[in-house]
Amino acid sequence: MSSQSAMSSQSARTSQHATTIGILGAGRVGTALARQALKAGYQVRIATRQPAAENALLVDIVTPGAVAVAVQSSQAAASDLVVLAIPLHKYRTLNPGELAGRIVIDAMNYWAPVDGVFDDFESDPRTSSEVVEEFLQGARVVKSLNHIGYHELEEDDKPAGMPTRRALALAGDDAQAKAVVESFIDRLGYDAVDAGFLAAGRSFEPATEIFTGSHTANQLRALIQKARPLAAAA
Ligand SMILES: NC(=O)c1ccc[n+]([C@@H]2O[C@H](COP(=O)([O-])OP(=O)(O)OC[C@H]3O[C@@H](n4cnc5c(N)ncnc54)[C@H](OP(=O)(O)O)[C@@H]3O)[C@@H](O)[C@H]2O)c1
Repeated sequence: MSSQSAMSSQSARTSQHATTIGILGAGRVGTALARQALKAGYQVRIATRQPAAENALLVDIVTPGAVAVAVQSSQAAASDLVVLAIPLHKYRTLNPGELAGRIVIDAMNYWAPVDGVFDDFESDPRTSSEVVEEFLQGARVVKSLNHIGYHELEEDDKPAGMPTRRALALAGDDAQAKAVVESFIDRLGYDAVDAGFLAAGRSFEPATEIFTGSHTANQLRALIQKARPLAAAA
């Protein structure tokens, strides 16, 4: 199959719903997300930089039902949706070639007071997700899942339609990728609120009102609206 037809069959497969989720990172966020995605009926592949055999036992115990894969094997990257759940300062250890054309959720945060100061983000006026997107040339990056605590991911979910259902923001430049991510967020048990282009992810980065709280869809829309002039000025 040519790379173009492989790409279009990937697009066709993801145009409705994702079925396989590849998670890079098996730490707090990666494992909580894996369990929540399994509960929602997804097939989950999870990778760290360690060999799959080394992770397999831990994955069986901590995220039963998920499959441990090697990050170098491309199996995680070859999923309908790939989630980046690694410490942000390690983003350059990702393989851009493997992620090109893929829908990639960037759940990572630049949070200097907690993780330390990194020049890539400190000296760049763009959002951390835009820096990551530039590195992952060709990946369809959507920023999301970064403003919910790992422990909350499995506690705050609610069925669709409940007025108190928690909402999660997403931002990205690729409308089709965002539609797939919206459906994923909904199946995880949250309302998805589109904040706009990837640069609009600034409104839910660390230290913002959105990042530090829990909000319904209406509340989240209002906060995104309120943050718009600030994002435009940055
Ligand atoms: N903690 C939260 O509540 C929370 C909530 C939302 C978002 N976030 C964001 O999510 C990210 C992960 O946070 P965390 O708390 O889950 O971190 P963590 O517990 O330290 O886990 C990080 C994981 O990433 C793996 N890793 C590192 N480089 C990798 C690579 N190139 N490929 C695959 N796996 C790799 C690590 O394993 P090896 O080193 O063995 O490879 C480890 O399993 C951070 O950017 C954080 O800001 C955190």
